[in-house]
Amino acid sequence: MDPLSPRLQAIADLVTVGQSMADIGSDHARLPLYLLENRLVPRAVASELGDGPYRRTLAAVRSSNLQDYIEVRKGDGLQTLEAGETDTVVMAGLGGDSIAAILAHDWNKAGSFRKFIFQPMTRASVLRQTLAERGWPILQEILLQDNNRFVVIIVSQPGSTPYRLDPLETEIGCEILKADNNLKREYLFKFLEKYTRIYAGLKNSSRQEKQLLANSYRDKLERLELILNASHRPRY
Ligand SMILES: C[S@@+](CC[C@H](N)C(=O)[O-])C[C@H]1O[C@@H](n2cnc3c(N)ncnc32)[C@H](O)[C@@H]1O
Repeated sequence: MDPLSPRLQAIADLVTVGQSMADIGSDHARLPLYLLENRLVPRAVASELGDGPYRRTLAAVRSSNLQDYIEVRKGDGLQTLEAGETDTVVMAGLGGDSIAAILAHDWNKAGSFRKFIFQPMTRASVLRQTLAERGWPILQEILLQDNNRFVVIIVSQPGSTPYRLDPLETEIGCEILKADNNLKREYLFKFLEKYTRIYAGLKNSSRQEKQLLANSYRDKLERLELILNASHRPRY
């Protein structure tokens, strides 16, 4: 098997060794096949909604010698799994809003799994907000670059104490905001540019709602600048 991409490798590294896992939206099934090939998990379920991706998943598993350890299923989100059937559930490469919708379809069932690894391709903010409202803690947030794209991975688990995220924490991620490295700075600059552009488009509007929005972007810009300046301090 070819080496995993940095994105899939980072996800694989977060799966708990020795425990079963399910890959929701598995497509090529590379993640569960890698984990089984390297004897990192004892059993896996690869689940797909789309016809083409399901056929791809099935073909990839059939051409491996791991068919006794991996089941391929077709269906929507967690509906293909029994409650608590696997320890870890991975949802990678889906939109943050799709991941949130999969969880919200049946929070009781979602709450029966031990650990979740999410890699939202877009709209991570929707997922963070949903987790916060539901009281699922964000245990780890990893930022990396793959193929010149920023990738965010969120590790969570069922919980029941809702918490508040401020707008910057929702959009960028509280764990990422706490980090101090060059990649984080590059990531924050991307948001700085985006917010600057939006603020410039809003600030001269005479409409009250646009002024309010402009103010919220100005606040986010000020905070981002503070964080960037603080993380730029040389260390002695
Ligand atoms: C971009 S692929 C990601 C494949 C793989 N997980 C990865 O990260 O490389 C996203 C896959 O999620 C599947 N998908 C989308 N919504 C789904 C859902 N509600 N339930 C299961 N699979 C879904 C799509 O069919 C697609 O194959």
